[in-house]
Amino acid sequence: MRNFLVLLGPPGAGKGTQASLLCARLRVPHVSSGELFREHIRGKTDLGKHAQGYLGAGQLVPDEVTIAMIRERVSQPDCSRGALLDGFPRTPAQAEAFGKMARDLGGDVRAVVYLRVADAELIERLTGRWMCRAQGHIYHVQTHPPKKAGHCDLDGSELVQRDDDKVETVTRRLAVYHEQTAMLIDYYRNAGLLLEVDGARPEAEVAESIAAALKGRLD
Ligand code: AP5
Repeated sequence: MRNFLVLLGPPGAGKGTQASLLCARLRVPHVSSGELFREHIRGKTDLGKHAQGYLGAGQLVPDEVTIAMIRERVSQPDCSRGALLDGFPRTPAQAEAFGKMARDLGGDVRAVVYLRVADAELIERLTGRWMCRAQGHIYHVQTHPPKKAGHCDLDGSELVQRDDDKVETVTRRLAVYHEQTAMLIDYYRNAGLLLEVDGARPEAEVAESIAAALKGRLD
């Protein structure tokens, strides 16, 4: 049985931060749609060239392209037990397609963890975020600084800022979230899959709340 879990929440809610902790615990792959797009952009693939403008503008990549990319990824052998999805689905069409995709693969969407954080906090988080160039480990200038300035604690690589973390693009990404993604909270609540977690608390406390909310959900 493939168990698919989804982390839902606005940009900067802590989806990537919590996904790393949760994937290590559950031993399932972390499938981040944003990271997959950034890999394609770095690799200068046709998909990357198509997606680049959308990411730079803080807009969503069209559904058809995004759904095909995720279908290809979750069909890989390392997802045979399931996967944790971060940043996908993000529209009603993606959510419908994902439910069908999961069932076609002999699995199901077992739970959707919604990380709730207010917009003002999100802007602080994203404009202060640094990520390591080698593997995308996540830091923050105030709440999670690296031990050695400018370098990743885990692999020593250089820390860089994401192009779409400029304040204007962050504002656009938040507006897009409210217009096109926030409606999935009700979609998954009505499906009985939503687990709501206060994402404004410190990272370790959020991780504990997610673990508690998931208890019994994955048996
Ligand atoms: P994507 O890469 O998915 O970005 P996002 O959803 O905007 O989310 P982020 O990665 O910015 O934030 P996060 O929630 O992972 O937070 P993080 O843990 O890093 O998407 C980028 C773009 O790709 C989109 O704009 C779109 O163009 C495209 N795209 C992606 N998916 C798509 C889809 N499905 N359809 C169409 N287009 C798509 O944390 C943020 C910061 O906060 C860090 O500095 C961290 O250290 C800090 N932090 C984390 N937790 C806490 C805490 N509890 N307390 C204090 N600080 C914290």
